[in-house]
Amino acid sequence: MTLTTAETRTKTDEARPRVLIEDWLPAAAIGVECIRERSTGQQPPDKRLHVWWARRPLTVSRAAVLGSLVPADFPRDVFERLLGFNGSSEEILRAQERLDWARQTGTRVPNPHGQRAFRRPLRTDDLERAHEAVRRQWNGPVSVIDPMAGGGSIPLESARLGFHTLANEYNPVACSILEATVDYPFRFGPKLAERARYWGAKLRKRFVARMERFYPKTGTVPPHCYIFARTVPCPDTSHPTPLVPDWHLLKPASHSGCGSSCLFAVPVVDKARGVWRVQIRRFGHGAGEVSSAPRPTYDDGKGISLFTGLQIPSEYIKAKAQAGEMKSALYAVALKTPQGLEFRPPEAADLRALEEAERELARLWPGWEKANVIPTELYPEISSDERPRLYGMPRWADMFSSRQLLAMGILVEELRKLRSEIVKEEGEELGAAVEHLLALAIDKQGNHNCSSTRWENTRGVVKGKMDRHDYAFKSSFAEMATCNSGGGLDWAIDNVIEAYEELSRLPQSPHPAAAELTLGTATNLPQYDDKSLTAVVVDPPYADNVQYSELADFFYVWLKRTQGHHHPEWFSTYLCEHDQEAVVNVSRFREDQKSGKKKGSAKEAREKAQAFYQGLMTEVFKEAHRVLRDDGVLTVMFTHKKQEAWTSLFTSLIDAGFTITATWPVKTESEHSLHQAKKNAAQSTVILVARKRRPNAGLGYFNAAMITEIRDRARATAERLKGEGLNAVDQLVGAFGPAMTVFSRYDEVRTDTGEPVGVDQAIDEAADAVSAWRIEQLAARGLDGVEPEGQFALLCWDVLGAAEFRFNEASLLGKAVGMDVDRLIAAGLVAKKGENVRMLSARERRREKPLENAEVMETLFGSVPVAKRGTKAEALRIHPNDPRFRTALDACQALALRYVEAHGGSGGIGSARALARQQGWTKDSPVARLMEALVIAAPPGVRHDQGEKSTAARFPEFRAWHALLQPLFGITPLDWTEQPPLQAAIPALEAQLAVEDQADDDTENEDEDEGEED
Ligand SMILES: C[S@@+](CC[C@H](N)C(=O)[O-])C[C@H]1O[C@@H](n2cnc3c(N)ncnc32)[C@H](O)[C@@H]1O
Repeated sequence: MTLTTAETRTKTDEARPRVLIEDWLPAAAIGVECIRERSTGQQPPDKRLHVWWARRPLTVSRAAVLGSLVPADFPRDVFERLLGFNGSSEEILRAQERLDWARQTGTRVPNPHGQRAFRRPLRTDDLERAHEAVRRQWNGPVSVIDPMAGGGSIPLESARLGFHTLANEYNPVACSILEATVDYPFRFGPKLAERARYWGAKLRKRFVARMERFYPKTGTVPPHCYIFARTVPCPDTSHPTPLVPDWHLLKPASHSGCGSSCLFAVPVVDKARGVWRVQIRRFGHGAGEVSSAPRPTYDDGKGISLFTGLQIPSEYIKAKAQAGEMKSALYAVALKTPQGLEFRPPEAADLRALEEAERELARLWPGWEKANVIPTELYPEISSDERPRLYGMPRWADMFSSRQLLAMGILVEELRKLRSEIVKEEGEELGAAVEHLLALAIDKQGNHNCSSTRWENTRGVVKGKMDRHDYAFKSSFAEMATCNSGGGLDWAIDNVIEAYEELSRLPQSPHPAAAELTLGTATNLPQYDDKSLTAVVVDPPYADNVQYSELADFFYVWLKRTQGHHHPEWFSTYLCEHDQEAVVNVSRFREDQKSGKKKGSAKEAREKAQAFYQGLMTEVFKEAHRVLRDDGVLTVMFTHKKQEAWTSLFTSLIDAGFTITATWPVKTESEHSLHQAKKNAAQSTVILVARKRRPNAGLGYFNAAMITEIRDRARATAERLKGEGLNAVDQLVGAFGPAMTVFSRYDEVRTDTGEPVGVDQAIDEAADAVSAWRIEQLAARGLDGVEPEGQFALLCWDVLGAAEFRFNEASLLGKAVGMDVDRLIAAGLVAKKGENVRMLSARERRREKPLENAEVMETLFGSVPVAKRGTKAEALRIHPNDPRFRTALDACQALALRYVEAHGGSGGIGSARALARQQGWTKDSPVARLMEALVIAAPPGVRHDQGEKSTAARFPEFRAWHALLQPLFGITPLDWTEQPPLQAAIPALEAQLAVEDQADDDTENEDEDEGEED
């Protein structure tokens, strides 16, 4: 793989000393380290401290900061070392190739990467060289700001490198996390962890003293956790009936059918008494075993009554929930024994304890309400997620069962009582920090101990509420035994403190300084003077991907009670402020139904929400423009595949006065899923570098010269990115930036006739140029005569590499070949499934009977042969014996059906050959050229037979085409044998993955605190 210079230099910027990231970035190797950051069992410590959404990897954050400050001629090997690389970028990429190959072939090789980059010690001489180079480049000290800092990966990395760092954030929950991430580790170091552990133990002791009796131990092993079902009165008998989507208590991860390791709670119903209980049973055919999983009693919002077997409508379930008639029933208790997890049905003592907890909560409630201990605030009326209200949880406190809420309230109360003692012993500053970490631990307990948790039965762990980034209703949930040693609260405290301690021990510059933190909107940073900052490095919200404040409210209501005194200015509002939040939230733009105003259309609301987001982002960039030095750098990280998102980002940047100077897609997620060829799931973060546009940049013309330049740059970039191992979607998205370097040179762009030209037109040109280039790669003999449908299918397989992909990605490609995805759906080539589009196989498109008396009929696609009694949709399908075929793609599929239906081999070839002869399809026909290209485009997942349920099994046409090319058309097909990468034959020694980082020690509960957007 080659690492070449970005071809994104703009003529107007040459006077300005360039920074490294404008000329070079080892993007592919950074991507490898970003994937490793997440894939070695344990997330980096900042991500484990507290939930925050859409956190960026540390390596890419460090690269963005350092690359924006050091000059373009900074030694690349020093830069690579400062990123924490174990060798040069080339070596990292070669090592990764070996690992990928080993993973695919199941070979064991030693870990060639060593420590993860973010942990590797920083050499003092390298840091000194960087600081010296930065001082020279900027003629003095520098300041870096992340004005939308979120969980803090950018300011953390900047501070670790020893630069003066500023972190601003709009959301108070994020600010609270930031304080513990970018301030405390630098101010207090590991000592804070030690003191927090001491006080954490005290807090736990007091908590256990009050709560222990509510978790009785009935045998030799104390309960580990409790599994509940929500219940509603059965519509016919009124008996409470459980809503359980899966009665498995344990099932192996690769579950495709039950086996001996499956364990169930089997409901046993006493219809006469109107009660039910469970028996714990293993799968099997012997005595005491069950041979099939019990039927779920909840699916897709609807229930099934245990008492009548009849369906319970979802509207009924919601109505009962809103009337307060939805309850919960404990049905299984998990025990952690030396032999592993065991389960038992609840005993009388368990049920009594639940009742007692309920009584205790009722007793404490009035005092707690007065003292503001529990969150009685109402869930907001305007929200993109109405489910808490629909399912009977109008207040935040309702998201907890009685015993869970009792535990949370006692924790708040006890932490408050402990406060004066902590401050007395530790002093104001350290004391406040100790208390803060304990407050974060309470949040962690809340996340894993509310009624929206989930019993994850493949690993036997409790999944936290924020496992999903929404307020989905959980009809069955798990409760931790919070008093257990090593579990429950003990786990939560330990987990937070451990994450903090690791943070404080991460390698850092010998002269680190805590980042300066502010709460406020990035649209207005009055604390900073005009032209005072060197670099703005920001990872803004991506349209509607995450509703930060809506999700953060879950924690806000608790932090307000545990941290309100520490930062009254952060926690003085009812819920999180959202007026200035830069997200697309359509619910905020629907007409107020109560005010009686006419409700606007959903489309109108969407447009308003989009316009609001774009307007706000423009303001954010304008403010960045104001605070930046004239020669300063704006570096933006962006992860999105929707063209609209890119259009709006570029428009905002240009409107704010910036010109784009470089873009680097960095692959931040493993591409492994692509090999399954089912879903296209890989994802990249694009780093985009911008500078202030020169004043009065004037008017540019969208004429042939500009269009050619855009197309050439887009194509050259895609070629370069392909060489760096980025997947085809990222090649496409990565080409947008360079196209924008041309477009964004001007204040305004118009056609020769004076019509204004929008960013989207430039992006369209870039997408079109890249698609044309891809087609050239696939079809050296051209695709003349191949209809847009065939070109589209080809591009989908080539670019998206999967049978299922996002609608917006499909429309991006559709545009490039002049094809609307809706037309493809109408043509029966693809099917829409929610947000996704699914490619239909030849078999799915097959009609039962061939067309006989063909007639001509006018359809969306022009004249089409159709049987007399056939419908339009039928006519658009295919049969291998049809007398005529509408498109080259139909013909290819018909040939494949002939081959497959004759069971391949010589019979299959003979049958297909007969059709080709009859139709006159020769080597130079569009059919042969398309087939050849499809074989080249075939992703690995469809090339070889991979078992019944694989994508390969759904699309046998690829293997048929591969087999037919030579005998039918004399074309030698591409060799599909997988070649091991060079040096792959390393002796088998140890596991493929990192050795330095121990496996996930988070065995108590799952703690994947956040996820990628998109
Ligand atoms: C993509 S996240 C940043 C994630 C961060 N880079 C990390 O790794 O954790 C974007 C952040 O922008 C914040 N935000 C939204 N609107 C804002 C505004 N007007 N001013 C400042 N921050 C804002 C959100 O609260 C969110 O934390």
